[in-house]
Amino acid sequence: MSEPYFKSKDKNFYLLQGDTMDLLPKINHKFDMVFADPPYFLSNNGLSIQSGKIVSVNKGKWDKSHGFDYINNFNRKWLKQVRELMKEDATIWISGTMHNIFSIGQILTELDFKILNIITWQKTNPPPNFSCRYFTYSTEQIIWARKSKKVPHFYNYKLMKQLNGDKQMQDVWKLPAIAKWEKSCKKHPTQKPLSILTRIIMASTKPNAWVLDPFAGSSTTGIASNLANRRFLGIDKEAEYLEISKCRKIEIEKKEVAELYKNKISGFNNQKEFASFLEKEPKPSKKVALGFCRKKDIPNLTKTNKFYFHAIEQDNFVQDFPTEILDAKIIYLYQGGRGKPLFFIGYYGGIKSIKLKHKSKIKGKENSRTEYYYEIELEKNFELNKYLTSKLDTKILFYKNDKTNKELLNKYLPAITTIDKVELNINKYKSTNA
Ligand SMILES: C[S@@+](CC[C@H](N)C(=O)[O-])C[C@H]1O[C@@H](n2cnc3c(N)ncnc32)[C@H](O)[C@@H]1O
Repeated sequence: MSEPYFKSKDKNFYLLQGDTMDLLPKINHKFDMVFADPPYFLSNNGLSIQSGKIVSVNKGKWDKSHGFDYINNFNRKWLKQVRELMKEDATIWISGTMHNIFSIGQILTELDFKILNIITWQKTNPPPNFSCRYFTYSTEQIIWARKSKKVPHFYNYKLMKQLNGDKQMQDVWKLPAIAKWEKSCKKHPTQKPLSILTRIIMASTKPNAWVLDPFAGSSTTGIASNLANRRFLGIDKEAEYLEISKCRKIEIEKKEVAELYKNKISGFNNQKEFASFLEKEPKPSKKVALGFCRKKDIPNLTKTNKFYFHAIEQDNFVQDFPTEILDAKIIYLYQGGRGKPLFFIGYYGGIKSIKLKHKSKIKGKENSRTEYYYEIELEKNFELNKYLTSKLDTKILFYKNDKTNKELLNKYLPAITTIDKVELNINKYKSTNA
């Protein structure tokens, strides 16, 4: 991935500068949720009223309309690329107005997304209509879709119901336009309110989820994600907007500011509800990388703090490699195969970093193939704990619908699971073999 424009100290907030169309294909990571607020293409010299003054509707060069085909091609291009970066159970939210939302809806269907809802955001304080020849524009649409028609998505039904007076949350959200306190770092011309993004994030993600915004602007998505203990990667081509994003992130690094903002976000029954819900959310279990170790390498393990994973990329798709492994905090090694059962050999280590070390083209008859090596650097050398030596039971080690990692393990490839699953596997084995 390209060098970030900004990477926060807590590594939960990344910004990339450049054209999203060029940067998206370079990202080697899968996301749980995407929010996009793409150009609406409405900057055509029209007029509107803001705080009692007549103002131009023009937002910037990036928002100028170039006709219907241009809008469709633009939306098709970024949506196709973003789809590749979504996990199989991920969802995408795209906001728009009549200027672009029909194009977005059409392309989503064309690309095989499943549209789940069309949310109408009804602004409680819209600007009046200047010409007095139309109804006041007081809504924006947000399409919610999932990547796969077959793989179920996450919806926080219970919380959404709670926020709607214990009745099912409907698809019309009455939330105010952006408030003054949200403009503490200079305002972006189309900055979204935190209340909208907070509701979206809380409805469709679990703690620690990775959220992508390919048109980040002032990174409202990132700020709402981080306030809600989710992680964020945002892209924008304008340094001016990335500076606002950076300033907003640095601002919420102060605990008291983050707490204050959580209390101010609209859409909750009371000021404390957001923070107290976050406190009760289950803390995600640590991710564990599972690495196959050849028998001949075992004697040397305590002498090293390095391990290598091999992966092949073909047609822009990394084969046989779960990219979530980049989130792993611990590595456990396993052995066996060729007729023998797979088992943990008792060697493990805390992961310091995982880096893409080597990349080379493989020449051959097939389409272009690239060979990668990921270097896993441990905090210290591998340790041996004989108690951990135990047979692997893929039924216990992985979640029921996690076929991918089960298959990877059966091919002696790197796989990913969580520490509670590893412990369950080891404890079950010990108790039945005691
Ligand atoms: C509608 S605004 C997003 C505002 C954002 N939701 C917020 O709350 O601040 C769209 C953003 O996309 C950026 N943009 C437009 N075309 C782009 C492109 N091709 N690559 C990267 N950024 C782009 C613009 O600079 C602008 O900041």
